[in-house]
Amino acid sequence: MDHLPSPLASDAKSPLDGAILKKQFPIFANDAAKNPTKPLVYLDSGASTQKPATVIAAIRDFYENYYANIHRGVYRFSQRASDAVEQSRVAVQKLINAPSADNIVFTSGTTEGLNLLAATLPYSPLLKKGDRVVISELEHHANIVPWQMMRDRHRIDLAVAPIDRNPDSDNYGGIDRDALAKLLQKPTRLLAITHSANATGASVPVAEIIAAAHRHGILVAIDGAQAVAHQRVDVQALDCDFYVFSGHKIYGPTGVGVLYGRGEYLAALPPYQTGGDMIEVVSFEKTSFQPPPQRFEAGTPDIAAIIGIKAAIEFLQAVGLARIAAHEHGLVAYALAELAAIPEITIMPAGRKRDGVVSFTLGKIHPHDLGTILDDDNIAIRAGHHCAQPLLRCLGVAATARASFGVYNEFSDIDRLCASLRRAQAMWG
Ligand code: ALA
Repeated sequence: MDHLPSPLASDAKSPLDGAILKKQFPIFANDAAKNPTKPLVYLDSGASTQKPATVIAAIRDFYENYYANIHRGVYRFSQRASDAVEQSRVAVQKLINAPSADNIVFTSGTTEGLNLLAATLPYSPLLKKGDRVVISELEHHANIVPWQMMRDRHRIDLAVAPIDRNPDSDNYGGIDRDALAKLLQKPTRLLAITHSANATGASVPVAEIIAAAHRHGILVAIDGAQAVAHQRVDVQALDCDFYVFSGHKIYGPTGVGVLYGRGEYLAALPPYQTGGDMIEVVSFEKTSFQPPPQRFEAGTPDIAAIIGIKAAIEFLQAVGLARIAAHEHGLVAYALAELAAIPEITIMPAGRKRDGVVSFTLGKIHPHDLGTILDDDNIAIRAGHHCAQPLLRCLGVAATARASFGVYNEFSDIDRLCASLRRAQAMWG
């Protein structure tokens, strides 16, 4: 497959230009052809990123030129598809600096990765009755509900580390490190915590927290759904035990995600789902299982999505994660300044460091109404509870409007957002 030329690779040190990046994403030109006066402003990358042409082309190439099931055929197409899947595994390994491709389990997304852990850990020597799992108030429902199910089924305790709720604190809305420290001792055996909160953008200092947890022999699983496309993630430098993320939030397809696990811990987990491809020998009396990662990959996976994630990783690497992080922090700083100038806006706190998300309310206008008015101006944001009802409750709101950024955003997108919010205020205020 011919990859599109990247206008960025030749100029890797310059700041990113969202307008140039937009050209790599067909949706922007296609939409501009239909809406020339109001081209799409996409501010919902936290929910899902748009797809560059290279990712779409990689998926199409697979379906058009070598489509077949994997790990089952001796014919050329099946072998080529199987090789492509294993190359994607290596691409993921390199992206997050895992020691081996065998540390990389393909899942359907972050949600499945977390469910896999919560469903299998209690059947492993890693977690036993009477142990405690700790999560935090910053979590998405996908890092809350699976652990509640585990608690109820296995008599494993579940505790929640609070955020800092003091509006006068410089860490307001961030994880309360002192309160968390009190929970990082017996009987806690596992901490499952986000790298970056989807609802507010609060960035969690996971490296320091992992080091503190390990001093007490506590395992750490990180929900990296909102981190991997926005900063360089190195699982060995972080020293985490498990790390999960989704393909569709890193400019890749839906239907694929990643569970990274330390080798000995993946080996200690029993299968999650069973069926084809994850077995060694099956008889009617008993079955023996493959080692990881195949042990956790029962059935035919979303092959096209797995192939697409490699193209997404190549896109991220061509643009450069350090440049992406700098670009998005610049956008966030500009958005915070411009939004703060709008009367009656309340910006949700995100602690000491905010990743590429700004969540807010505007006077008494319901966030869903805001979302509808903005859509009228062809501006896409997310409105509601962001699958983080407990966090929003801690912040005293039921819903917010959320702008979240990606490589293709420009300062002018934020200007359009603010103009539209002022229009909403004039209509409803
Ligand atoms: N978890 C995604 C979000 O934050 C869907 O919008």
